[in-house]
Amino acid sequence: MKFEGRTALVTGGSRGIGRGIVQALAAQGAKVAFVYQSNSQAAEALVAELTQAGHTVVAHQVDVRNKEAVDAVVKTVTEAWGKLDVLVNNAGVIRDALLATMTPEQWRDVIDTNLTSVYNFCQAVTRPMMSARYGRIINMSSVAGEFGNKGQANYAASKGGINGFTRCLATELASRGITVNAVAPGFIETDMTEAVRNVAEAEIKKNIPAKRLGKPEDIANAVLFLASQESSYITGQVLSVDGGLTLGGF
Ligand SMILES: NC(=O)c1ccc[n+]([C@@H]2O[C@H](COP(=O)([O-])OP(=O)(O)OC[C@H]3O[C@@H](n4cnc5c(N)ncnc54)[C@H](OP(=O)(O)O)[C@@H]3O)[C@@H](O)[C@H]2O)c1
Repeated sequence: MKFEGRTALVTGGSRGIGRGIVQALAAQGAKVAFVYQSNSQAAEALVAELTQAGHTVVAHQVDVRNKEAVDAVVKTVTEAWGKLDVLVNNAGVIRDALLATMTPEQWRDVIDTNLTSVYNFCQAVTRPMMSARYGRIINMSSVAGEFGNKGQANYAASKGGINGFTRCLATELASRGITVNAVAPGFIETDMTEAVRNVAEAEIKKNIPAKRLGKPEDIANAVLFLASQESSYITGQVLSVDGGLTLGGF
């Protein structure tokens, strides 16, 4: 297995894309810790499923917006396993609203959960990864980081911010054996897209060259590659995984 002896921390690992990433890393032999916000039932079910299958997986309830709590969980995981090889910053939320009606809470919730969390976790893992002279950091962006979408100014700002952050941090850490990349999913079948899928799934599919929505496994497979030893010469990239959605064909 590719990740035998490796350790990983995934944010937002209880549901959706993060859950798929936790499952994929564990199946490849990594020890995986994940954090979630409030859905303990989903987190416990995932830990039970993977533990029964013989994998090492632990869950921590941590609000990714809280820097002290983030520092503490990174310390706990690093001390328990002796190192942290892979960080996947996946936790994210949407609070869609046209700007004219967007509340300060909607703005702050999205920026703090999606972007400040990336600062929190990256800063916490940087020193241990630099000492180890090895690390793989993957940040979950979105096609919305590059393309305009009504009602998503907060979300697009957070994801565009992640893209810039990823490129800068990549230059800071490249000489230490640490790569920093982002994955930009298109429409993926998760709770986050349920409402829009319920009203416009057929319309959305028409605009995707692959003619289907993505599944968490589609994103997890890309993350697995960027988290692997084999991707060592790729850094500072934003990889679209969107069935061709952003190719701009007509
Ligand atoms: N789905 C898509 O089509 C799509 C497209 C592009 C990008 N993305 C990005 O992919 C990532 C995952 O999306 P998803 O669709 O899998 O979302 P999801 O199904 O709604 O799951 C979100 C996950 O993030 C966790 N989370 C949210 N706020 C948190 C906080 N403050 N602290 C800790 N954990 C928190 C949730 O924990 P609880 O279970 O406890 O709530 C859950 O595990 C996000 O960054 C999203 O922006 C998704």
